[in-house]
Amino acid sequence: MIKKQALTISGKFKGQDILSLDQFTAHDIQKVLRVAKKLKPLRTRAHPSKILSGNIITLLFYEPSSRTFSSFASAAQQLGAGVVGIHDAKTASSVAKGESLSDTVKTLESYSDLIVMRHPVAGSTQEAADACVIPVINAGDGTREHPTQTLLDLYTLLESKGKLQSLTGVIAGDLVNGRTAKSFIRGLSLFKNNTLYLLSPVKLKLSREEFKLLAAKGIKLVEITTEKDMPKNADFWYWTRIQKERFATEKEYNAVKNSLILTPQLAKTYAGKKTIFMHPLPRTGEIDTAVDSDPRALYLKVQMRNGVYVRMALLALLLGKIT
Ligand code: NCD
Repeated sequence: MIKKQALTISGKFKGQDILSLDQFTAHDIQKVLRVAKKLKPLRTRAHPSKILSGNIITLLFYEPSSRTFSSFASAAQQLGAGVVGIHDAKTASSVAKGESLSDTVKTLESYSDLIVMRHPVAGSTQEAADACVIPVINAGDGTREHPTQTLLDLYTLLESKGKLQSLTGVIAGDLVNGRTAKSFIRGLSLFKNNTLYLLSPVKLKLSREEFKLLAAKGIKLVEITTEKDMPKNADFWYWTRIQKERFATEKEYNAVKNSLILTPQLAKTYAGKKTIFMHPLPRTGEIDTAVDSDPRALYLKVQMRNGVYVRMALLALLLGKIT
C-alpha cells in the first residue's frame, strides 16, 4: 500500500508520518508540547511506563547523531517500547551491499511499528514513508528539515517565555545548509507576530527560493550579515554550526568557519537579562565555552533534555496510545 504525501495533522496524530513542520498547525504543536509536559515526570521514574509496551521502534540513521538517536532510544524505552537501533546504516545495514532504501524500509517495517530515520539526502524520508505503511519520523533529511528538533526547541521557548507568539529572536549560522533553522522558522511562523533576525555570512544565507517560501508564511524575517545589526534584548538567540560536511571543498568551509561566535562580550553588548541562548548542538566553536555558565545559556542544561519529553509525546501520539 502506498501512502499519500505527508498529510496535515490537524489533530489526527495516529498513524501519521512526521516529515515536515509544514504538516503542523499551531494547535498540533501545542498538543505535542502539552503531552510532552505531562509525560516529563516519567523520564526519571525508577520503572519504565507501559504506555508503549509491546511496541518496537526502529532507529535507522545514515548520518552521525548523538542527541537525536539517543533521546529517541531513551524516550521509547522509558515508555516501555523495544528499540531496533541501526546507528551507522551506511555501513551496518544491507545498504552497504547495494540494497535500496525502499527494500530496507520494507524489511524494518516487518520487525517494528514505527521508523525514525536520518539520511543525508533531502526528501529521502518521504521516499521511506512511501515504501511502508507504519509511521516514519524524519530525524533530519540532508539540508531540508528536522521537525522533532523544532518541537523540542519550541518546548524550550514555551517553558522559558510562557508563549510562542510576539517573540523576537536571532537565528545565526549556516542557514543555507542547516535543517534545524529551517524547521524552526517554519514552526515559529505558525504563531502570530514573531520577528526573526537571520544572521549569517552572505554565502550562507537562506536560498532565495527558501527565503520567499518562508517569508510567505507571514513571519517577519530580517536578514543581517553582521552582529552589529542584531537587535538588543531579543527574546532568544538560536545559534547553529557551520555544516562542514555539506561544503563542496574544505577551502570553502575554511573561508566561513570562524564567522559568528557567541562570546561573553557579544552577549554583554546585545543580549538582555532575559535573552535565552539556544543551540541544537553539536557546536564546533561557534559558542565560546565561557558562555556555558551564564544562566541564560540553555543549550546544555535544558534544551537537549527536552528532546526526550517531546519524543516520548510524539511516539505515544503516532502509535495512538495517547489521543
Ligand atoms: C542537528 C542536525 O543533525 O541537524 N543536530 C541535532 O539533531 N541536534 C544540528 C547539526 O548537525 O548542526
